[in-house]
Amino acid sequence: MTTKQNILVTGGLGFIGSHTVLCLNEAGYTPIIVDNLHNSRIEVLDALEDLLGYRPIYIQGDVNDVQLMSGLFNEYNPSAVIHFAAHKAVGESVEKPLMYYQNNVVGLISLLEVMKGMGCSKMVFSSSCTVYGEPEAVPVKESTPTRPAASPYGATKQMAEVILKDNSWCEVQCLRYFNPVGAHPSAKIGELPLGVPNNLIPYLTQTVAGIREKLTVYGGDYPTSDGTCIRDYIHVMDLAEAHVAAIDRLFNPNRIIASQEGDPSSENFEVFNIGTGVGYSVLEVIAAFESATDEKVNYAIGDRRAGDVVAVWADTNKVNNVLGWSAKRDLSTMMKDAWHWQQKC
Ligand code: UFG
Repeated sequence: MTTKQNILVTGGLGFIGSHTVLCLNEAGYTPIIVDNLHNSRIEVLDALEDLLGYRPIYIQGDVNDVQLMSGLFNEYNPSAVIHFAAHKAVGESVEKPLMYYQNNVVGLISLLEVMKGMGCSKMVFSSSCTVYGEPEAVPVKESTPTRPAASPYGATKQMAEVILKDNSWCEVQCLRYFNPVGAHPSAKIGELPLGVPNNLIPYLTQTVAGIREKLTVYGGDYPTSDGTCIRDYIHVMDLAEAHVAAIDRLFNPNRIIASQEGDPSSENFEVFNIGTGVGYSVLEVIAAFESATDEKVNYAIGDRRAGDVVAVWADTNKVNNVLGWSAKRDLSTMMKDAWHWQQKC
């Protein structure tokens, strides 16, 4: 009989973390959740219990708390860590840079210190396509040069990548997410933005639900086919499954590190773009939502939002071939699941 491996999931009650907990369980791993509830709710644990059929192990705490984290490693001896716990709002990071550097950078260093001390050397890390900035050409490959960060949030992701790469004792799968949307098909878990949402899909669904009056499309005069920005939207369940593929890869002793010219991957640090490989404009997303749900979106074209890149989507060849993962859910499914979740909120 093989023993199930414990995987520590920091930020495991958050949007991506909670969906990943389900996928880890499905794949035969035991998720151990640590979350400080800064941007998540304890009710997510009840929903996970409902979906899993058992209450997952959960410790309320902060990754910066060395004593708590050491105790947790002692008790559960995780074989790997999936590190989600981080702040993620671009605008907030401009207002509160210290908070972002403290949590996203110092928190990572603190976690690495504990992992090293406890002999745990495997990590899947949440990075972001924000590291590419405004790319010269799309789709972006892992070898596409990164650009100076446009916000402290973006800077924390770039710094984290450097820190992880430099710590050669730690084997890292670094996943650069594109735009995660949607929700679990049960609509029992999903994205819970606190306050007014910044991101397109929660703002859109809240508008249709009558919580917001009107969706503003930020800019209609970009050099794209319909004048609105283009992004690579990915269903959160596909993204969650990518984390399991990355964990599986960390446990594969025969893996051969793949790296092209310019790709920052090295012996201990592998980077993958996690997107669908298809870009949609904001107006295409609105149209997809309307046709998937039969609802009308009240929207108007407004001014551009400072800091938005015009168009970015992923080249997924590396992740498809090397990690053996590809996104399966289309934009219509993303919209339906996001709407079902909104209706249950
Ligand atoms: N948008 C609108 N109206 C809104 C909200 C967004 O038109 O009310 C547009 C944006 O201008 C953009 C697209 O919808 O063109 C997507 O915007 P989001 O805010 O949903 O996502 P971003 O692409 O701006 O943000 C993502 C991640 C961040 C990451 C950032 C890097 O959510 O974590 O990319 O650029 F930092």
